[in-house]
Amino acid sequence: METCLNPAWTGINERTFLAIKPDGYQRRLVGEIIRRFERKGFRLVAMKMMQASEGLLKEHYIALQNRPFYDRLVKYMSSGPVIAMVWQGLHVVKTARVMLGETNPADSSPGTIRGDFCVDVSRNVIHGSDSKESAQREISLWFQPDELVCWQDSAESWVYE
Ligand code: RTP
Ligand code: MG
Repeated sequence: METCLNPAWTGINERTFLAIKPDGYQRRLVGEIIRRFERKGFRLVAMKMMQASEGLLKEHYIALQNRPFYDRLVKYMSSGPVIAMVWQGLHVVKTARVMLGETNPADSSPGTIRGDFCVDVSRNVIHGSDSKESAQREISLWFQPDELVCWQDSAESWVYE
């Protein structure tokens, strides 16, 4: 058993894929966004800065391939650096989506990332997996298994009972 996976409480081993989009990167929001997930208590297990290819992004957003904005979405997402990350923790998939806000920033509450930092649905700063199944698919699409770092979390007993 990897030391980063708790055998007694598998719920806290849940993982999600987050990506700070090119607008978030250009607008210098990287530190602010990472800070929010760190302070929440989630555990960062992988992170890389990259300019993603159109091929990777077409695959990433394959479920949206018939939507009218698909080509523009792929172009936007490949237009500059992104920060690809894997975060781990209890209910992290759902909670991260709450922390992101709604797809359209106009529907996002203040206090969420999209509610605080953007106004246009086509420039909404950050991606988050929408289900545990999507998270698994996206993590294996963006990361090799050996890019996920297994580390002993000394804060775990202060985050979880
Ligand atoms: P994401 O996958 O990026 O986390 O966003 P989401 O789940 O909240 O929304 P989704 O339906 O998966 O859409 C993916 C991204 O496509 C862009 N979009 N543009 N112009 C439009 O009407 C429109 N609708 C969606 C957004 O960047 C959205 O995050
Ligand atoms: Mg989505």
